[in-house]
Amino acid sequence: MRIFLNAKLVPPHRAVLSVYDHGFLYGDGIYETFRSYGGVIFRLDQHLSRLQHSARLIHLKLPYGLAKLRTSLYQTLAANRLSNATLRMTISRGVGELGLDPDLCARPTIVITARVFNGYPKALYNRGVAATVVSIRRLGSDTLDPRIKSTNFLNNILAKIEAKRAGADEGLMLNREGYLTEGTISNLFLVKKSRLYTPSPQVGLLEGITRQVVLELAGTMGIPTEEGFLTPKDLLRADECFLTNTSMEIMPVRKIGKVPIGHGKPGPITLELRKAFRGLVRQECRT
Ligand code: PDD
Repeated sequence: MRIFLNAKLVPPHRAVLSVYDHGFLYGDGIYETFRSYGGVIFRLDQHLSRLQHSARLIHLKLPYGLAKLRTSLYQTLAANRLSNATLRMTISRGVGELGLDPDLCARPTIVITARVFNGYPKALYNRGVAATVVSIRRLGSDTLDPRIKSTNFLNNILAKIEAKRAGADEGLMLNREGYLTEGTISNLFLVKKSRLYTPSPQVGLLEGITRQVVLELAGTMGIPTEEGFLTPKDLLRADECFLTNTSMEIMPVRKIGKVPIGHGKPGPITLELRKAFRGLVRQECRT
């Protein structure tokens, strides 16, 4: 295995960071997760523009321009001879003395890891996952803006712990006003009376690349869509529910807490969107 560390591809035992890296000390950094299909990174440009946006929001100057970010990802894939993979690019503030001031760090640290990935087990898609609404609230955009894909993940980690203790695969977080936002690592969609609903970015969430693709697909498929203010009640009354992210794509939800969604198995619109998503991946990545 080769890991990209500050422009060098090194084996894992040499991929070591300073204990003074502010990513480690303060969670001061950003990241992106990408997925490649047949050697092509899906929606690469969108992921990189989100990375640039995250960098701007934390006042971090990216160490590379777009072209070099792109080639670094492909170099990492090639060095590991990977074709179907997930990649993670992490950029931290860098190494510096103790203290919160970013000026203590001379330059950002950049790491890219990649591993083979052929998708989650089929059984999971056939059955759907269990989700639950957790008591931990999503931080609002006036605190740690959820649009920043930051390495500071404790808000979501606390939600994940709560979900896991409740026997659920994913925890769904409300905002301070009680509206549904997103999962700990995923965006949320509901279907009610053949209409597709997803929380509006105004509630405070990370605008997932997969979420965007689903909205595009729904548009071309003529599925009426609404980005809105959804409550746990809407969720429990939904006919279908699914989660989206880069690695799981479109994952059906079979129950929320103890309450089955629809018939307790993946619904027709979820399945249709999933099929369309796979088709789009084949088209864009020519797999
Ligand atoms: N997480 N919301 C949150 C809080 C996330 O962490 C993620 C992705 C998403 C979905 O975004 P996208 O469709 O662009 O993957 C939404 C990734 C998978 C991760 O943490 O590795």
